[in-house]
Amino acid sequence: MTALDIIIMAAGKGTRMKSRIPKVLQRLAGRPLLHHVLDQAASLHARRVVVVTGHGATEVEAACAGYTRATGSFDLQFVRQQPQLGTGHAVQQAMPALAGDGMAVVLSGDVPLTRPDTLRALVDAAQGAGGNERLALLTVRLPDPTGYGRIVRSPADGAAVQRIVEHKDASDAERAIGEVYSGIMAVPAQRLAGWLARLTNDNAQGEYYLTDIVAMAVHDAVPVVAHCIDDALQVAGVNSPAQLAELERAHQRAQAAALMEQGVRLADPARFDLRGDARSGARGELVCGQDVDIDVNCVFTGLVELGEGVQIGANCCIANARIAAGAVIHPFTHIDGEKLGAAVGEGALIGPFARLRPGAQLGREVHIGNFVEVKNSTLADGAKANHLAYLGDASVGERVNYGAGSITANYDGANKHRTVIEADVHIGSNCVLVAPVTIGKGATVAGGSTITKEVPAGALGVARGRQVSIADWKRPTKQAKG
Ligand code: UD1
Ligand code: MG
Repeated sequence: MTALDIIIMAAGKGTRMKSRIPKVLQRLAGRPLLHHVLDQAASLHARRVVVVTGHGATEVEAACAGYTRATGSFDLQFVRQQPQLGTGHAVQQAMPALAGDGMAVVLSGDVPLTRPDTLRALVDAAQGAGGNERLALLTVRLPDPTGYGRIVRSPADGAAVQRIVEHKDASDAERAIGEVYSGIMAVPAQRLAGWLARLTNDNAQGEYYLTDIVAMAVHDAVPVVAHCIDDALQVAGVNSPAQLAELERAHQRAQAAALMEQGVRLADPARFDLRGDARSGARGELVCGQDVDIDVNCVFTGLVELGEGVQIGANCCIANARIAAGAVIHPFTHIDGEKLGAAVGEGALIGPFARLRPGAQLGREVHIGNFVEVKNSTLADGAKANHLAYLGDASVGERVNYGAGSITANYDGANKHRTVIEADVHIGSNCVLVAPVTIGKGATVAGGSTITKEVPAGALGVARGRQVSIADWKRPTKQAKG
């Protein structure tokens, strides 16, 4: 198998995005467009990837380096194209960074949804049967081919590809051709170098067209094959916010369809989102057991695992979390495990309006109710915090009942401290547990207490002003102005 070197053209400005962010860094499913293209390179087991940058080069290069740091795949190089004189000129800049002996695959940084099997088929087409070299073009038939390079074939020669003509240079007859060049090709690197050296910019746009190498291949008797697909989405580029949104929806629909194929029940596949995590660069992945139900408008980010029979209510955002079998996540719940992860045990009931933050580790049958926040805390089986509470840096034992409005005061302004609440403790409403502090097994804390010292096992801890009643209390009366 010939080594594959990939050239990704990413120097363009993306004027129609009307954004300060370079076009190839606009996000699709939570990740830069360019990361999706780098995924394609990774799926091909590329030996080397050369990214041609220009507009926003520093930012684009940093984003690519972030990708390889996260995945560890392939040798990555950058070349800068300044100024941008066309796609042929862009590839010329990349040639010195190629080893020269391999197969080159040209991709565009703004075409995110090409499938690995499509690219593999294109590379196979370029490699031919007996190792003969060929130029392979990925083409697609479009109902409206306006703007694209057209594939000109020769009827006399068994419809063999002759050349590509750019829209602006095409005759009316050529503009009637529905088969267009996708911008993606596979070509032996050595041949490519020779052809690029012969490019001119004598055309309607005064640019060096990469597509002119097709006629050169024909002239040099190198076979040209067109690998024609009928799925326009795979070669669709992003030029405007409207196109970006269109591709986002199409991508999400495809992810939703794949999940439903596995048996996941989505209330509405049009209102489902699975995204990569921009913070870590991780891809979006939703792993589901049998009989999972997901209601409308849920957003899943990073790696999320849902066990058998899990139910996710409407409008939940869930990132980097593991939810065990039979758990129910009620509507409007926000779970974000970030790097530490978050875990919900079997049969737990969470929400509505609950918030689980990094390091929330909940056991079986735990109940977390509305407006309860849990961060970096372990709740053992059967523990409950049902209303308006905060648990941060706490270890909570089995069957603890944590009252409404109670909080762990875990931060003294400089350092964080732990709160330990042993099994079967009952914390009343509106308590402040000032960490570090321990509440012993089976102890009770009276409502409204501010606890600063250990409460021993089995004891009642009360820490609040004692109630006094002043009889026949006369309220103040309003004084006459004068
Ligand atoms: C190109 C093809 C056209 C094809 C179409 C598919 C050429 C001459 N034409 O046209 O046949 O149908 O793609 O979408 O190749 N870029 C650079 N440097 C440059 C110019 C472009 O890096 O100097 C990058 C752009 O950022 C973009 C890609 O190359 O990622 C394609 O450039 P674009 O201007 O969109 O090419 P088209 O004119 O659409
Ligand atoms: Mg263009």
